[in-house]
Amino acid sequence: VMDLIEIIGNKPLEGKIKISGSKNASLPIMIASLLTKEKVEIDNIPNLSDVSTLIDLMKSLGADIELDQSLKFKRKISFTTREILHSEASYDLVRKMRASFWVLAPLIVRYGEAKVSLPGGCAIGIRPIDFYLSILKKMGVKLDLKEGYVHASIKNRLKSLNFSLDFPSVGVTHFFLMMASLADGKSIIKNAAREPEVVALADMLNKMGAKITGHGTSTISIDGVGNLNGAKFSIPPDRIEAGTFAIAVSVTGGNISLDGVNPNEILLLSNLLQQSGTKITTSKNQMKIKKDNHIINSIDISTAPYPGFPTDLQAQFMTLMALGNGKSYIKENIFENRFMHVQELARFGANIKLKGDTALIKGVKEFNSAPVMATDLRASASLIIAALSAKGKSTIRRIYHLDRGFDKIENKLKSCGAKIERKRD
Ligand code: EPZ
Repeated sequence: VMDLIEIIGNKPLEGKIKISGSKNASLPIMIASLLTKEKVEIDNIPNLSDVSTLIDLMKSLGADIELDQSLKFKRKISFTTREILHSEASYDLVRKMRASFWVLAPLIVRYGEAKVSLPGGCAIGIRPIDFYLSILKKMGVKLDLKEGYVHASIKNRLKSLNFSLDFPSVGVTHFFLMMASLADGKSIIKNAAREPEVVALADMLNKMGAKITGHGTSTISIDGVGNLNGAKFSIPPDRIEAGTFAIAVSVTGGNISLDGVNPNEILLLSNLLQQSGTKITTSKNQMKIKKDNHIINSIDISTAPYPGFPTDLQAQFMTLMALGNGKSYIKENIFENRFMHVQELARFGANIKLKGDTALIKGVKEFNSAPVMATDLRASASLIIAALSAKGKSTIRRIYHLDRGFDKIENKLKSCGAKIERKRD
């Protein structure tokens, strides 16, 4: 049996939503805790299946993990890895969640050896690992690719490295920061990713005693240190979750306040939503989003590395544009196959044509309800938003995708008046 979500749509959203900690900051920061013997305490970790998957993997590698139940609203988890006991990340885990691949960094640094499954393809694209392999080799790691696994080993300390990325990959930048922090000498990464999650990881590593400068810009310098120490860290808010709710209100109409957000991290989205006809006011940790009419102006967008439009909000923004008053183009520049939601949006009555990396959207007046199926994490959010605006009852199946990355989404929407229920199929 699998869960499904049932939504009776065509109701404005009204209320307050507390934004959870960032999934994509939590994952690398949890993995970074494996770099030290000492205790690392992290709070504001969201309650997601990707987090549980990583906890299982980290336990299997030797981490002692404790969830502090005393804090009601901020999940605090402590991680202590006195010793790495096991050096394998299996196909089952890496296939489930590609971020598991990053454990290769702490395994090599502390154990001198690792066997990590090659991630393989995924719903949104091919997602190669060539940059990772090239960094490993250049830092002196011996590599052997066989039977679907990367077998890595090193005898001495990692060599420092001056590396220039062909594309500002988020994951590769995370990986480089972890490796270079414990390498012998000064490393530099050019054309580095500038995403807030990279900044968060670098801040965390610096708290652990690393010497990283330039994070948040395209050139990051890392002075390798002998070892890292324990630290306390609080996960920053999830900008993708915040953006998703901001888009949802822009589609359904209504008035919501997002609490505990960093408005600076979704500046571009805010500007685009305003152009589309949504009213947004921001203060330090809050955004108020108001949509009080039915006119959505069509706008063209193109996804890009930060501070450009995030690929993780592309599907949700497409739902909005599918109800626009004209034509719009959405170009996906990060992943080559991140359009699985198009066919499902069509079931609600959307008019979208795909041509290579671009979707041409002709806005329709309204959506009809429909049964649909989620295909990946962010695509599921785009379907939830569509169902919230459709008249009548829609069902969304395969919502395990949703649970990977959205913390209590149906409760949050329910508290804003949405008619949304999780049911057994
Ligand atoms: C991170 O994935 C996020 N995942 C993704 O979020 C996000 O969509 C993506 O960054 C882009 O912002 C996590 O943080 C856990 P990349 P990542 O390496 O690091 C190419 C979500 O929905 N590339 O920045 O894996 C790659 O193919 C997820 O929460 C190579 O060519 O993405 C892609 O075209 C989905 N060779 C581009 O770089 C490599 O060795 C950017 O991907 C590595 C990457």
